[in-house]
Amino acid sequence: MASYLIQGGQRLEGEHRVQGAKNSALPILAATVAARGECVVRGCPDLSDVRATLAILEYLGCAVKREDGAIVVDSSTLQRCEIPERLMREMRSSIVFLGPLLSAAGRAGLSAPGGCEIGERPIDMHLEAMRSLGVRVVEEGGRLRCDARNGLKGGRCSLYFPSVGATENLMIAASTAKGVTVLTNAAREPEIIDLAAFLNACGAKIHGAGEGTVVIEGVERLHGAEHTVIPDRITAATFLCAAAATGGEILLRDAEPGHMDAMLCVLEQAGCRLRRPGGSQLHLRMPGRPRRLPTVRTMPYPGFPTDAQAVFMALAALAEGTSIITETIFESRFRHVSQLRRMGAFIRVEGRVAVVEGRRFLQGAQVDACDLRAGAALVVAGLAANGTTCVRQIRHVERGCEHFEEDLRLLGAHITREEDDLGPTEEACQT
Ligand code: UD1
Repeated sequence: MASYLIQGGQRLEGEHRVQGAKNSALPILAATVAARGECVVRGCPDLSDVRATLAILEYLGCAVKREDGAIVVDSSTLQRCEIPERLMREMRSSIVFLGPLLSAAGRAGLSAPGGCEIGERPIDMHLEAMRSLGVRVVEEGGRLRCDARNGLKGGRCSLYFPSVGATENLMIAASTAKGVTVLTNAAREPEIIDLAAFLNACGAKIHGAGEGTVVIEGVERLHGAEHTVIPDRITAATFLCAAAATGGEILLRDAEPGHMDAMLCVLEQAGCRLRRPGGSQLHLRMPGRPRRLPTVRTMPYPGFPTDAQAVFMALAALAEGTSIITETIFESRFRHVSQLRRMGAFIRVEGRVAVVEGRRFLQGAQVDACDLRAGAALVVAGLAANGTTCVRQIRHVERGCEHFEEDLRLLGAHITREEDDLGPTEEACQT
């Protein structure tokens, strides 16, 4: 079990190139199943979730190769439309293969993804969305059998919550359905717009992606296309928080500040000086200790993203004054709280609300990355803390952050990755 060992207290300073968005890369790679022909997807980060997606594509019979940093998928050799449980379990967002398989093969067999660290993650909206296209869904013994052998038919679907994954599945499946599909209360995340841009490059006719109502005119078939995924707004925010927590200065390159408004507003009100030097760059300088954060309430886009809640809590733990953070999207997304407390953070949780009384100093400790974003938050806290922090179980962090510790080292952080199976010893953590 690998760990990060962090010697805190170094001011981060320098430039960071933002990785491609994991949450764009995963649905786009899955959507290549629906396209007949070669798809070239550029900018995919090298992460365990991406590798798990490629393993599913290969299992299904697609030809997958890496070429000049791009991932090339040819699904014209598709052989299977069932995904075994062992591959489903590798990655929670594997449910996004449902729409692509139904589009390509008219059938799909998946195991229902179980609960995970951040909550139950039900899939009722995904199934309802597929039913609105005429799909028959049978659930037996933890397996889902979905059938649209007579073809997908355009329909109307209204989500009771703007689910990102359900919107993605519906857009992909409806692209090749007969007739027009109208989706209301669709998710509006930038990753939805990116997926629609990819599908449209493959010949789909999707209108209104990024708005509440999406209209999809079904086409006969999709062809291959080339696409570059958008920058990852969550890892970009993680590096901004790391610089802010250490009183540092950072220039992000290959960022998309326009996707980050809710987070940038919070950073500005916490005392960060932000500049947009133009193009895809974003500069942050933190002149002193962060001030209390304005009220943070996670919401669907363009609200404050749930994926950034944990790293902002790490910042709040060091800020002057009391910050209030409310999580409204996932029910178990405060698992970093107990770990931050081990580092001396003062946080009270009442239901979905965390009240964070900032401390001038956090103390290095041995902590566990309970999930991907919780782990990133502990790294941010460890970089600012006095002494040494060991963040264990970093396989969660590596699901979402590409060469994280190397990039932090380039900014001056004292962080190493310890391969050792048992994690660093208690002794090493106390140095
Ligand atoms: C995606 C992101 C994830 C992010 C989340 C919310 C990917 C790979 N993952 O996850 O990083 O945290 O959006 O921005 O893109 N829900 C149901 N029934 C459903 C589907 C969802 O009740 O059928 C609930 C979920 O439990 C959750 C809420 O709706 O409480 C939002 O989930 P959703 O937007 O679907 O998130 P994901 O697509 O799973």
